[in-house]
Amino acid sequence: MAKMEVKTSLLDYMIGVGDMVLLEPLNEDSFINNLKKRFDHNEVYTYIGSVVISINPYRPLPIYTPEKVEEYRNRNFYELSPHIFALSDEAYRSLRDQDKDQCILITGESGAGKTEASKFVMSYVAAVCGKGAEVNQVKEQLLQSNPVLEAFGNAKTVRNDNSSRFGKYMDIEFDFKGDPLGGVISNYLLEKSRVVKQPRGERNFHIFYQILSGASEDFLCKLKLERDFSRYNYLGLDSAKVNGVDDAANFRTVRNAMQIVGFMDHETQSVFEVVAAVLKLGNIEFKPESRVNGLDESKIKDKNELKEICELTGIDQSVLERAFSFRTVEAKQEKVSTTLNVAQAYYARDALAKNLYSRLFSWLVTRINESIKAQTKVRKKVMGVLDIYGFEIFENADNSFEQFIINYCNEKLQQIFIELTLKEEQEEYIREGIEWTHIEYFNNAIICDLIENNQTGILAMLDEECLRPGTVTDDTFLEKLNQVCATHQHFESRMSKCSRFLNDTTLPHSCFRIQHYAGKVMYQVEGFVDKNNDLLYRDLSQAMWKASHSLIKALFPEGNPAKINLKRPPTAGSQFKASVATLMKNLQTKNPNYIRCIKPNDKKAAHIFNDALVCHQIRYLGLLENVRVRRAGYAFRQAYEPCLERYKMLCKQTWPHWRGPARAGVEVLFNELEIPEEEFSFGRSKIFIRNPRTLFKLEDLRKQRLEDLATLIEKIYRGWKCRTHFLLMKKSQIVIAAWFRRYAQQKKYQKIRSSAVIIQSYIRGWKARKLLRELKHQKRCNEAATIIAAYWHGTQARRELKRLKEEARRKHAVAVIWAYWLGLKVRREYRKFFRANAGRKIYEFTLQRLMQKYFLEMKNKMPSLSPIDKNWPARPYLFLDSTHKELKRIFHLWRCKKYRDQFTDQQKLIYEEKLEASELFKDKKALYPASVGQPFQGAYLEISKNPKYKKLKDAVDEKIIIAEVVNKINRANGKATSRIFLLTKNNVLLADQKSGNIKSEVPLGDVTKVSMSSQNDGFFAVHLKEGSGAASKGDFLFSSDHLIEMATKLYRTTLSQTKQKLNIEISDEFLVQFRQDKVCVKFIQGSQKNGNIPTCKRKNNRLLEVAVP
Ligand SMILES: Nc1ncnc2c1ncn2[C@@H]1O[C@H](COP(=O)(O)OP(=O)(O)O)[C@@H](O)[C@H]1O
Ligand SMILES: [Mg+2]
Repeated sequence: MAKMEVKTSLLDYMIGVGDMVLLEPLNEDSFINNLKKRFDHNEVYTYIGSVVISINPYRPLPIYTPEKVEEYRNRNFYELSPHIFALSDEAYRSLRDQDKDQCILITGESGAGKTEASKFVMSYVAAVCGKGAEVNQVKEQLLQSNPVLEAFGNAKTVRNDNSSRFGKYMDIEFDFKGDPLGGVISNYLLEKSRVVKQPRGERNFHIFYQILSGASEDFLCKLKLERDFSRYNYLGLDSAKVNGVDDAANFRTVRNAMQIVGFMDHETQSVFEVVAAVLKLGNIEFKPESRVNGLDESKIKDKNELKEICELTGIDQSVLERAFSFRTVEAKQEKVSTTLNVAQAYYARDALAKNLYSRLFSWLVTRINESIKAQTKVRKKVMGVLDIYGFEIFENADNSFEQFIINYCNEKLQQIFIELTLKEEQEEYIREGIEWTHIEYFNNAIICDLIENNQTGILAMLDEECLRPGTVTDDTFLEKLNQVCATHQHFESRMSKCSRFLNDTTLPHSCFRIQHYAGKVMYQVEGFVDKNNDLLYRDLSQAMWKASHSLIKALFPEGNPAKINLKRPPTAGSQFKASVATLMKNLQTKNPNYIRCIKPNDKKAAHIFNDALVCHQIRYLGLLENVRVRRAGYAFRQAYEPCLERYKMLCKQTWPHWRGPARAGVEVLFNELEIPEEEFSFGRSKIFIRNPRTLFKLEDLRKQRLEDLATLIEKIYRGWKCRTHFLLMKKSQIVIAAWFRRYAQQKKYQKIRSSAVIIQSYIRGWKARKLLRELKHQKRCNEAATIIAAYWHGTQARRELKRLKEEARRKHAVAVIWAYWLGLKVRREYRKFFRANAGRKIYEFTLQRLMQKYFLEMKNKMPSLSPIDKNWPARPYLFLDSTHKELKRIFHLWRCKKYRDQFTDQQKLIYEEKLEASELFKDKKALYPASVGQPFQGAYLEISKNPKYKKLKDAVDEKIIIAEVVNKINRANGKATSRIFLLTKNNVLLADQKSGNIKSEVPLGDVTKVSMSSQNDGFFAVHLKEGSGAASKGDFLFSSDHLIEMATKLYRTTLSQTKQKLNIEISDEFLVQFRQDKVCVKFIQGSQKNGNIPTCKRKNNRLLEVAVP
């Protein structure tokens, strides 16, 4: 990520104050409130100058991501909000760039987050330092040493599920480029008593549980272990399982880490064998056995466990058994063996277990060191990380030797802290050339002296007591303390000679109290001597040395009889004092960086901030002291450049740019702001501000000024924006106007132009019309002249014509008159020669001439020869009228004859019949005209061809004239029945239409009359002679479509046969004889129900009505 150009500062967006040095007013309440406020806003880090206060959030926060690492990388310490990464970065960079060895001191109560903090520091450094395969392997080994040490050195306590039970200092070594080379780990005072006994609610070291949970069955079998926790006396049962901790998985992690760190397989195996041996040691139990000398001797109850331990460790069982029963004391070349009673045996067993485990732990550290140590001999830069137990104060005088030692360590750390801080402060002042003023602060050297003084110190006296011959108890030790330290200001005891506390009931008799820099702590003296002695019977160490197990053998070098050392081993106290001294020396050579961890509550819970608890920690961590020391001189300092950069806007000369050295700029700035001179000092590269108030004032002014600047910028920006906008609009307006004018001008021009054209056209038109008018006038004039001339010529001509006509008439008249005169003269002369018959001859001649002309014309005008052609030329002369008519008649007759002459005999017969019909019915029967066009066929029914009528045909031998189907009207009801009507030469026959059977036969002689109406119907009655054979049933009434033909043929046949004319009566009312009755058949013209078909209806006895259309 590109480094941001904008410089930020810790002072930006600050919640509370990010640096306690700036706290106003400074007191415990404001201090806690500030922490609380920040804690509530997830700000778990706060500075005191360059010290980081860290409050355990007890929940994962998203502030350790790789992005965050990048954010803090290469940034100024005060540039971003407080963070452990800022401190790590500062430390790493001054190590790399300024060649200063660094140490990071992490202190705080158990569970305050020290170990986590140390891991964050290490991971940050690992993330930002060099990269490459080799470097990465080193990094990995350094980081992986943590899980191994945590498995063996951490345990669940009531305060922390992963509490480190040892102090750890790790030097990480870098080359000149800042790439890691390796490391060295030192460990301090493992809490080994935990191996054999754990307080309620706590566990033994993690590794025991991890093996039992995580090892395979096979592996367990090899270690002669069983998976069940309850099988082992050393494993407190109350909290074998820890919530959220997967022991089995952790076991795999540990083994993996061991592999990465570089443990060989057999080494790992040995380590676990030792762990198993320790675990099994706890199961060895003793029973008392009375000896002859009356003393009790302990005996091992069940030797099975012992046997397995011996198999596991390769120790001779009898040797170990003996070591649990006897104790050999060597003095002045004499060996005295005493038996152990049961209590002593248990003591020996536990001592062995504790020693075995703590030595194993130390061996592990050494082994890890071997792996991670730098491979080169080049000069190294070192960064030390100290994760050490913080001040421990138990209530109710539960503090014991361990707490004493731990608190001593913290006391030393506080001292070095004060010393280093002051030293650094002082160095800075000198470096910056600022006058050093004395700073008042509490120096805890006096307390350290109380503890560590070689003659009168508590530790020295404890050692003295331990080494003293004779009976030594904790009480004798306390007595001694009472004597020696009675007058010490920070020592309190009831029994001291000084009676200050004689009546202090809060102080029990078996206790002493030390006023540590962080508060008073009451120590219970019980166990001090034993723990300081940390005695392991020589028989046991020798037994261990004799083991064939190489690791165990190596852990107990003092068991080697060849190297018998009669001197007592150093006491725990003196060992610790020595190691602390070395540590202090080591730290003093380095540039210190502090992380002070604070626990916000006792419940390991997130979001809870217990004021009292925090207050307590602030006190014993001496944080207020810390602030005071820091503020003793100048509360705030800053290099000139960032300072000028930050505040330059407060002064006209420095804003916006200061050309010149930054220091001069700051001077101008501070003078301008009229900051009292005692409030600040100019160092070489930094400005020192005495009082936070001044800084805050600057900050306030800056904030105010920034707001003003923002307004100014806004104002200028708005102005600029408006101006540009206006200019743009103006420019646009000009463009628009130009375009508009152009457009308007174009319009105007076009208008003018079109007007001009119109005017022009009008003028031209007018001119043309004028010309036209003139031309027309001229033309008219010409025409008029012509007309006038014409008229004139006409008049002249007409006059001339008139005159000529007149002349001609006169000449004609003269001629006529002359002729008449001549005629008259001739007639007068010849009258006597033309007198008689002249008139008659002229008349005849004329008549003949006319007749001749008439006939000649007629010849040409003759009409066609068709008899029906009615044309005839018109008569030319009236006197020929009768001639003309006669001629027409003759011509018609002639052409008819011509026409007839063409006929065959058959045709002639037909026409005869037609003629007959015409004579009979023309103008009598309305049906007639329709029949004229119909040829008379006679045999409509072809009887001879229809086999149905064979019988009928056979019966009739004569020629058939008519064969036709007629309707015979029923006399009774007027209904029609179909009958075949046959007419032969002699008879009329009626036959059934279907069968052909002859129904009646009437000789023609018996037919008297045929009646029919004058209407357009086919009804006819055939009247029979009265008394004849056929007439018995009465007359026949028929209807036929061929009435005219039938009647005609009946008439002609009767005439030719009987030589009598058949009477045909045409009347609309006639009588018919039906049997005896005479019935009147009446034809009525009127509406018909069934269209045009005539209907017949018998009305009564006398009347049959036929309705015709
Ligand atoms: N910065 C942190 N963020 C989140 N959890 C933390 C942090 N520091 C500590 N803790 C929690 O608090 C527990 C105790 O921390 P630890 O470092 O082991 O304490 P100490 O070493 O001081 O005894 C850790 O197991 C972890 O759950
Ligand atoms: Mg820890």
